[in-house]
Amino acid sequence: MIEEPTASASRTVRELLCVVGARPNFMKIAPLMRAFAASDGISACLVHTGQHYDAAMKTAFFEQLAIPEPDVDLGVGSASHAVQTAEIMKRFEPVVDQRRPDAILVVGDVNSTIACALVAAKKLVPVVHVEAGLRSFDRTMPEEINRILTDQLSARLYTTERAALANLTREGVAPERVRFVGNVMIDTLLANRARAPAPEAVFERAKIEPAFRPTEQFGLVTLHRPSNVDDPLTLERLLATLSTLASDLPLVFPVHPRTHARLEQSGLLERAANAMLLLPPLDYLDMLGLMARARLVLTDSGGIQEETTALGVPCLTMRESTERPITVDEGTNTIVGSDPELILGAVRDVLANGGKAGRVPELWDGRAAERISADLADWLAEAGPVHH
Ligand code: UD1
Repeated sequence: MIEEPTASASRTVRELLCVVGARPNFMKIAPLMRAFAASDGISACLVHTGQHYDAAMKTAFFEQLAIPEPDVDLGVGSASHAVQTAEIMKRFEPVVDQRRPDAILVVGDVNSTIACALVAAKKLVPVVHVEAGLRSFDRTMPEEINRILTDQLSARLYTTERAALANLTREGVAPERVRFVGNVMIDTLLANRARAPAPEAVFERAKIEPAFRPTEQFGLVTLHRPSNVDDPLTLERLLATLSTLASDLPLVFPVHPRTHARLEQSGLLERAANAMLLLPPLDYLDMLGLMARARLVLTDSGGIQEETTALGVPCLTMRESTERPITVDEGTNTIVGSDPELILGAVRDVLANGGKAGRVPELWDGRAAERISADLADWLAEAGPVHH
């Protein structure tokens, strides 16, 4: 008897061009590349725009997370937003022309995300956006502009929390284009949690003398948003708050290159180093190791709000808003802004009462990339090849 060919055996493989550019993209693309490699309907290649380029910000992540070496590296580096975005677009266009993909996939909200989405959409190549529909409702954040515009340009949108769908439909995105799949960044966290080192090993690797290491509990600080670090007065005020705090709880602060530059320019670096244990930017596993063991995390990052919720570690977000409301509604996150009283009050509350308990949000279960891969293979098969 002749067997009927199965759906998968007869499926034509679709070409997908995946884009990464900056540090928070790397942990999102890792599980996706793995899922696509296992897919019989998708052939994925990887483009790195080079927005983040140095070893600490890029190479360490590719190695640790076993992300395949990019097929194409656009090597754009740093510049003003306009120049960086334009340069990515100029260099990405010939790649699309040459590779003629059936779709491009972008993640998150960095400049690389919008730049590549815009190039592809104008060439009628469908754009797939992972982590769609998040909104802070604060258009002074460059990432908010990137989110809104990328979603407008996207043909398939994958969301991490249910509230994202309401944001998208309000902006006129057809709900049929949207799929709630969970959180690929949490896929990476769950896959790597057991590999994360103890804080002692992180301090050892960073060559911190034992006398300068926190002996018991510590708070972990990250700070890099332009709204917090670009204005010397705001930066100084935040630093003063952190210094006060450090007398209640030792603080460990891996410093983002942007923040390091601003601290140096405004003559605040020494003061920061006297108040806290400053570290260089950490690789993924070291950061995860510190986060998992921190008493609390003080941050202005987007991703860390989600990672602390997944880990059950209290997070105080030094911003006026969050695009990730589920971390506040269900998780361990509290928005504290930049007001010293609010920050100090919230920290003391965590130290006295343990902070919010929180629970892990729906579908943050380590399988989001698999869901995306399965859905995308079906969707691309239905859509047929792109002719351009
Ligand atoms: C970008 C993203 C932000 C993300 C952050 C995480 C945008 C609009 N912003 O901001 O959403 O949270 O990355 O890191 O895309 N630098 C280095 N080495 C590097 C990369 C950068 O030294 O490998 C320096 C640059 O020279 C520059 C500064 O860091 O002075 C900022 O880099 P940039 O790419 O402009 O944006 P981020 O602030 O990192």
